[in-house]
Amino acid sequence: MLIDGHGRRVNYLRVSVTERCNFRCQYCMPEKPFSWVPQENLLSFEDLFKFIRLAIDEGIEKIRITGGEPLLRQDLDRFVAMIHDYKSDIDLALTTNGYLLPETAQKLREAGLKRLNVSLDSLKPAVAARIAQKNVLGKVLEGIERAQEVGLGVKINMVPLKGINDDEILDLLEYARERGIKIRFIEYMENSHASDEIRGLYGKEILERIKERYTIHRLGREGASPSYNYRIEENGYEFGLIDPHKHDFCESCNRIRLTAEGHLIPCLYFDEAQSIADAVRAGDIDAAAGILAEVLRDKPKENRWSETENEGSNRAFYETGG
Ligand code: GTP
Ligand code: 5AD
Ligand code: SF4
Repeated sequence: MLIDGHGRRVNYLRVSVTERCNFRCQYCMPEKPFSWVPQENLLSFEDLFKFIRLAIDEGIEKIRITGGEPLLRQDLDRFVAMIHDYKSDIDLALTTNGYLLPETAQKLREAGLKRLNVSLDSLKPAVAARIAQKNVLGKVLEGIERAQEVGLGVKINMVPLKGINDDEILDLLEYARERGIKIRFIEYMENSHASDEIRGLYGKEILERIKERYTIHRLGREGASPSYNYRIEENGYEFGLIDPHKHDFCESCNRIRLTAEGHLIPCLYFDEAQSIADAVRAGDIDAAAGILAEVLRDKPKENRWSETENEGSNRAFYETGG
């Protein structure tokens, strides 16, 4: 069992397989970074898997593959199958922008993927294009449909932004409800890579919009998830709200992150990281286990979005996978 320096049980590993992305979302990667990680610095699926096997043996029960956009990494289904074949009962999921799902959903499902979370910020083509800086909506909606058809569990993430898509909170909620999909509204997390012009909505403001139509009841957290559940009285539908500015979920934080270059990151907010790249490349699993133990020991107690509202984190979401 993996326990961190604050006594929290860590059983969730998020693995980013690439920092590259085919979207330029204003809240994440508004411009192409000055340079991408050189190809030779990326860990191969085999090397990433050496660490994953260790992590599973030590007590990781949930693995989420992230990016950038993870479906840009070629043959991702092969990586999914490696994890699934090692431990088929692992909660194996993917977070994606959905653009490449129409052609990949079936293969991912066959490889053993169980569920995925898709970012969907608007149902208006022009607004979706303004946020992602690309005409994306048609393919994303098709991707969501395809994922459901092949039997993948689907959730939707929406980041409401003032004056851009905040008038669509109820529309997106209805879209998800009609399809039996859970939607989670996420407070924009300020970070130095995002566009300067955007402002998010606080959780309270998001809930106000929903209350214009419905009576809602606050339920509990979904396990150690940062998402808080709410139920709509009129139709029983449940949605989630992720509000890191309150950071009360940090006390039950159960996750660590591994980047495509092999950096092991203890918290989404902070810069601290240690590399397991040399250890896994050399096949030195004891060294990797030692680094994992150190990272867990030093995992911060909580993020600081509540204090540094205007600037926020220096970490790039496209590197950590959100
Ligand atoms: P589930 O397994 O379906 O609960 O997914 P998830 O919420 O763990 O994953 P997803 O990739 O869909 O993340 C949803 C949002 O939660 C993203 O905006 C993440 O950045 C945010 N998030 C996930 N983990 C953390 C965390 O530890 N801290 C903060 N501040 N945000 C997080
Ligand atoms: N604030 C909040 N959510 C973000 N995401 C990416 N960047 C940010 C940000 N700055 C979300 C994406 C995706 C999830 C992994 O993280 O919309 O759904
Ligand atoms: Fe790409 Fe996701 Fe970042 Fe958008 S939020 S730029 S889809 S990594």
